[in-house]
This record gives sequence, C-alpha cells and structure tokens, in this order.
Amino acid sequence: MKKKIIQSTTAHFENNFQNSPEHIFLSPGRINIIGEHVDYNDGFVLPAAINKYICFAVSQNHNSECVLIAKDLNETYRFDLKDEIKPVNIMWVNYILGVVHQLKEKGADLKGFNVVFSSNIPMGAGLSSSAALECGIGYALNKIFDLHLSKKEIALIGQKSEHTFVGVNCGIMDQFASVFGKKNKVIKLDCTSLEYEYHKADFNNYSLLLLDSNVKHTLLTSGYNDRRNEVEQGLEIIKEKFPEVATFRDCNEKMLSDLKETLGDLLYKRCNFVVKEIQRVQAAVTALENSNFVQLGQLMSETHHGLSQEYEVSCDEIDFMVNAVQNEKSVLGSRMMGGGFGGCSINLVEKGSENDLIEKIAKQYKTAFGIELKAYKVKVSKGTTKYKK
Ligand code: GLA
Repeated sequence: MKKKIIQSTTAHFENNFQNSPEHIFLSPGRINIIGEHVDYNDGFVLPAAINKYICFAVSQNHNSECVLIAKDLNETYRFDLKDEIKPVNIMWVNYILGVVHQLKEKGADLKGFNVVFSSNIPMGAGLSSSAALECGIGYALNKIFDLHLSKKEIALIGQKSEHTFVGVNCGIMDQFASVFGKKNKVIKLDCTSLEYEYHKADFNNYSLLLLDSNVKHTLLTSGYNDRRNEVEQGLEIIKEKFPEVATFRDCNEKMLSDLKETLGDLLYKRCNFVVKEIQRVQAAVTALENSNFVQLGQLMSETHHGLSQEYEVSCDEIDFMVNAVQNEKSVLGSRMMGGGFGGCSINLVEKGSENDLIEKIAKQYKTAFGIELKAYKVKVSKGTTKYKK
C-alpha cells in the first residue's frame, strides 16, 4: 500500500517538474480507541497512527515561489513566499498555507519548494486526513530547511494552522497522533501537559475494524466549534461554584448534579459527557494493559452512548451502524470515532469474523439508508516520517 502511493506520487512529480523529487515523506491518518472530544477539555486520549497515508514528494526550487500540486484533485496552486500569506477559498490549500504562515511567523528561513501530494486516507471519514496534511508539510519543511523544530512543535503548528486558516478549533489529538505514532503502539496522551506514554496495541484475538458510514461530516466545523463554546460556558459556571476546579479533570459527577439546575439541560449533558469520558479513558488503559477486552469494548460502547445522547455529535447513520453490531457476539464494543456528524465507527471485533460482519451490516445499512457501507481493516503504524529510498 505504501509502495504504490510512493510510486504514483513520485511519477506525478516527475511528470510535472521533469526531475525526481529530492525527498519523500509519509504522514499517516489516525484512529482513536477512546477519549473523544476531551482533547480540548484537559482530558486523556488513546489514539494511534494507521497505515493510511498522505505521501509528499518535495524538492527545493531555489527561488521564492512554492508550487503545490494535489494529485488526487488534479489541482495546482502557486504562491510566493515574499507575499503575505492569507487564507484562500480553496480548502486543501489552506491546510498548507496555514503551516507556512505559522513557520514564517516563527521566523523560519523558508525557500521556494515544489510539492506533489497524494492520499489514501479517506477524506471526511474521521481519520484525520487534515492533520496528516498539516503535519506532513510541517515535517517536510522542517527537514528540508533545517528548522530544528521538535515533533511537538510540528504538531502544535498543525493545530494552530487548523484554527487560523481552516476555522476548526480542534484539540491536539490528531496532529499529535500523526506525528508521534509508533508501530503497534497506542499513545496515551495527557492533553494538558502533552506528556505521553505508549501502550501495546495488542488486542489478542480481536481486531479493530472501521465501518465508514460514507456520510461526510459537513456539519463538523460549526458543530465542533459550538460544542467547544458550550463546554467552555459550562466550565465557567462550574468554576464559580467550585473554585477548586481548574479544568474538567478536577470535576466529578456529583458536582455536576449539584449544579444541574444552574447549568440547564444542555450544558449539564455536555459537561457530564466530558467528565465521564475522561474517567473512561483511564479505565480503558487499565483494561488494555490487563487484556480485559470485554471491559474495553464496554467502555467504547458507553462512549458512543454519551457521544450520541449527551454530546450529540453522532448522526442517524452512525447510530444505526453502532446499534446494528450491538447484539453481534463477535463484537465487543463499537462507537463513533473522531469529530462526528458522519465518518466512521470503530469496532472491537473477534478476529476472523470481520468479513461476515461487514457483509451483514452493509446489507442492513443499504436497506435503511440506501448508502454503500465501506470498511477498513487498519494496522497501527509509524507516525510522520521521511521515507528512505
Ligand atoms: C477532531 C479534532 C480532534 C478531536 C476529535 C474528537 O478529530 O480534530 O482534536 O477533538 O475531533 O475527539
């Protein structure tokens, strides 16, 4: 899979620039086992990079112009580093311009470059193709122009670029997972301190199966930013009553129920999800360490219930997919993954049962919504890297 995308991206570069690229980089998408919508709420998350990538073929061009080619879209965009870098109305371009803008702000000595990129990460499926693009370009420019940025800085630049040039007030999980991913390891990330530890991605007789609703999360930007505002409001109210609370991490369910009336229904639901989800991640790490997959699956299913009923970021199609596997003996847990409003569910499934399950659910899904279900069996893989020829 890696080879194919590297070959086709390289060939496209050669056709367009009449020479071979000096560098090839691969930047992966991510899954998240558990810990959804808590990265911007001082929680913990448990993501991992996967074997689906954006491939970048890049060379310096020794002038100040940058030429960006999105192979899959067959589109080219040019800009000059001497000009002011501002968002444009082409979405994919903004992911790259945002990073270049951040680097310029930091005083990086950038020079012109030519880049072709191509992706096998499904877009809008909750697998963070956007973080892969931001981090891939940041990582590449860091290497090529010797910018001496740490991996953490590259992830933070990606996140900031998404805030400023794309307009999604995202947390740090996706960029962090894309850059820090390790083969066969999940990352337990403390989203407050950015301290992290790796845990074995060993699911014994089970595997992680992604089912793609094929519903693109077009509501994501507004819905996501709305949720952020809601929980910020909620936290302010909690802090007023309980001055010992600095973040959601210091908060418990009892405090929330004491404040139920003041918070009102909506903010109570949102905050209650956050507090419980932070606890679930801790419990999930213990379950994973103890190879207690029944427990892990159950926690994943509880997360889905919260995302759907309390945080309200699921949609009918994903709820259907999750409910449909609920009574399957081969499935230990299932939940919506990523920002929501469409995209994939992540399922903890008995090895060997995947194909039958996919066939069964796809049929039911097609009957219910008239939409083809897609499925991805992913491997936990290495983070953003320079590919050595
Ligand atoms: C998106 C954001 C992440 C995170 C998830 C939900 O993927 O980019 O920062 O908040 O949604 O967990």
